[in-house]
Amino acid sequence: MRVHLNGIDVFYSSSGAGQPIVLIHGYPLDHTIWDPQREYLSQDYFVLAPDLRGHGKSESSSGPYTMDLLARDVHALIDHLHLEPVVLGGLSMGGYVALAFMRLFPQRVRALILADTRAEADTVEARSRREQQAQTVLRNGTGEVVDPMVLKMFTEKTAREDPKLVERVRRMMESTSPTGIAGALLGMAQRPDSTPFLGSIRVPTLILVGSQDSITTVEHARKMASGIPDSQLVVVPDAAHLTTLERPREVNAAIGGFLSGLFTTTGLG
Ligand code: MLT
Repeated sequence: MRVHLNGIDVFYSSSGAGQPIVLIHGYPLDHTIWDPQREYLSQDYFVLAPDLRGHGKSESSSGPYTMDLLARDVHALIDHLHLEPVVLGGLSMGGYVALAFMRLFPQRVRALILADTRAEADTVEARSRREQQAQTVLRNGTGEVVDPMVLKMFTEKTAREDPKLVERVRRMMESTSPTGIAGALLGMAQRPDSTPFLGSIRVPTLILVGSQDSITTVEHARKMASGIPDSQLVVVPDAAHLTTLERPREVNAAIGGFLSGLFTTTGLG
């Protein structure tokens, strides 16, 4: 589905009916990283997975795409669909957006799912690396940024045993436009440190992380879990950064269990 919001065409996928679950993808990916969860959870819930500005089939604008801007895009979509308070999930950059959303619109969030993400801002070095990468992408195209990154998405074992999955994600990344990639890089570079905010998160929160995630590590996840009062941490075994696609069954079980603890449903969990 496509709708014009906040000056751009936004694409989203939705399925199921019931309590609304909104799942935000990471960089430079699209809503399909949540396909296994959308399929599973939509047996019992209404599941919405948008393409963020500059990603997937949503329109680009010039950057930077601050996390607040992306959160406002998601909020506009939630408003457009008249959703009651949602369970908001985000993977990696999607988690940064979820934290920004929580800060801006706490009354719209029923619970949080933070997958393979972190609360900290970029270091000075990481920030300048992102700014350089943004320039490289705009000048030379996406290859130099995508190639090293795709390798970090999965464990070596998965890369060896499931090359089709790696190829699928490489194509997803490569199809993100240079404008979209640069906009996200510059926006992530500007994001504030959310650590001081964690203690004021008052909704139940599920934190997921791949045991071998080298981008947003188990250590990052533990810090979020110790900062958010009503949180639970699940370390997904044999998984790197893209847990939703690498270990869908384990991620579905963790999210299904978390949701059935929140809502009285008959099906999942
Ligand atoms: C992501 O997967 O969204 C990014 O790796 C996050 C980041 O670069 O900080």
